[in-house]
Amino acid sequence: MISIRAKNQIDVWIAKYPKDRQSSAVMQALKIVQAENKNILSASIIQEVADYLDMPDIVVQEVATFYENYNYKKVGKYVIRFCHNISCMLNGADDLIKHLENKLGVKTGEVTLDGLISVKKVECLGACVGAPMFQINEKYFENLTIDKIDKIVDNLK
Ligand code: FES
Repeated sequence: MISIRAKNQIDVWIAKYPKDRQSSAVMQALKIVQAENKNILSASIIQEVADYLDMPDIVVQEVATFYENYNYKKVGKYVIRFCHNISCMLNGADDLIKHLENKLGVKTGEVTLDGLISVKKVECLGACVGAPMFQINEKYFENLTIDKIDKIVDNLK
């Protein structure tokens, strides 16, 4: 169930758009309700968001499944979204992702045993000038190297 607090936060986003365009707030609404539900979305939560924004639930589901920042299964406290699109791939992302998987003992899409870190491969995050890069929760890390990754991950623990 969407809390009053979450509805108030969603209303702030709805107010940013013209009247009867509340559907434009769907991405922020999903982000808000996901944060309130242990960082996971479900069919019932998506239905509630659709009802609240007066949208067909299939449209909300399409948004929620298109973007990598929405989760349908348990993720870690820290979610590493590693870009493997063209600029990052050409600058060594594939090898760095393998290094990260080995360091954490997980494959992409999995969560470390302690529940702290999960890794996802994602498409371009719009920071190609800093390739190779990844995002941890809301923060970007660019021009990654093996040493840099080791330091960043060690600081998460
Ligand atoms: S290709 Fe990786 S940020 Fe654009």
